[in-house]
Amino acid sequence: MPDQARVPSVFITGTDTEIGKTAVTCALLRDYAAQGVAAAGMKPVAAGAEQTDDGWRNDDALALQAASRPGLAYADINPWCLPLPVAPEFAARDMGVQLTREPVAVAHRRLSLGAERVLVEGAGGWRLPLSSDEEMPDWVARFRWPVVLVVGMRLGCLNHALLTAESIRLRAPLLGWIANVLPPVQRRLDDNLAALQQRMPAPCLGILGCGQHRLSTTLLDNALIRFAPDSPDRIQSAADSMERTLPETRRGTRPESI
Ligand SMILES: Nc1ncnc2c1ncn2[C@@H]1O[C@H](COP(=O)(O)OP(=O)(O)OP(=O)(O)O)[C@@H](O)[C@H]1O
Ligand SMILES: [Mg+2]
Repeated sequence: MPDQARVPSVFITGTDTEIGKTAVTCALLRDYAAQGVAAAGMKPVAAGAEQTDDGWRNDDALALQAASRPGLAYADINPWCLPLPVAPEFAARDMGVQLTREPVAVAHRRLSLGAERVLVEGAGGWRLPLSSDEEMPDWVARFRWPVVLVVGMRLGCLNHALLTAESIRLRAPLLGWIANVLPPVQRRLDDNLAALQQRMPAPCLGILGCGQHRLSTTLLDNALIRFAPDSPDRIQSAADSMERTLPETRRGTRPESI
């Protein structure tokens, strides 16, 4: 069983809602599964759920559960499941509940017990209000999760990516960013990618192509090693063996090609 305190967790945020946080997180989880790495996805706060025989269920959390290592309890993947598909602060207020960090801490601890990585998907964009006096970045800072920013590649993404990166770095370490090529593929995609490569204050950790479902975790793991050099040997050896098996053009800092 991995040492809970040392299980690397990453918070995955995005330039906006509906820009591919779930698509990217699931793609990374599938790659971990393919490498034999036990990884768990988590959606601490979800707004918009359906009543099922098993209780309220949110689509993102179900997708993360399906891409995670088997056997995880839904309640651990998604401790706050709010039925109304509106901003979580309002969905919680309508239900008469206050979104607190403790259930998330308990669920994250349980997921960590059986996992070598935990990928935590945010909700909406980075500065998501949770209550009148708390935002998601407050929780991320308290949990000391490093952050990966998913950039939804569409018109306006340069401004959204740069602003979000600037804001993240006020509260948490930014491991890097992942470009998600949304449909319809934007004009001048290559120019936009080059502009981000040049201006973003952290490295590109991958590009999820339009309609694609797999993303290599190699660059993410390399970034985790740089962030926490005392992380478990398993990350280092997994990264080394992946590096050895990668074709020449995919080694080093080049993101996965689209
Ligand atoms: N690379 C891609 N290629 C094709 N479709 C994509 C891609 N990425 C995302 N999509 C589609 O875009 C929509 C939004 O993606 P997704 O649900 O992953 O966004 P999100 O940021 O997680 O949204 P939310 O804020 O609701 O959590 C989905 O219908 C998804 O299938
Ligand atoms: Mg999502």
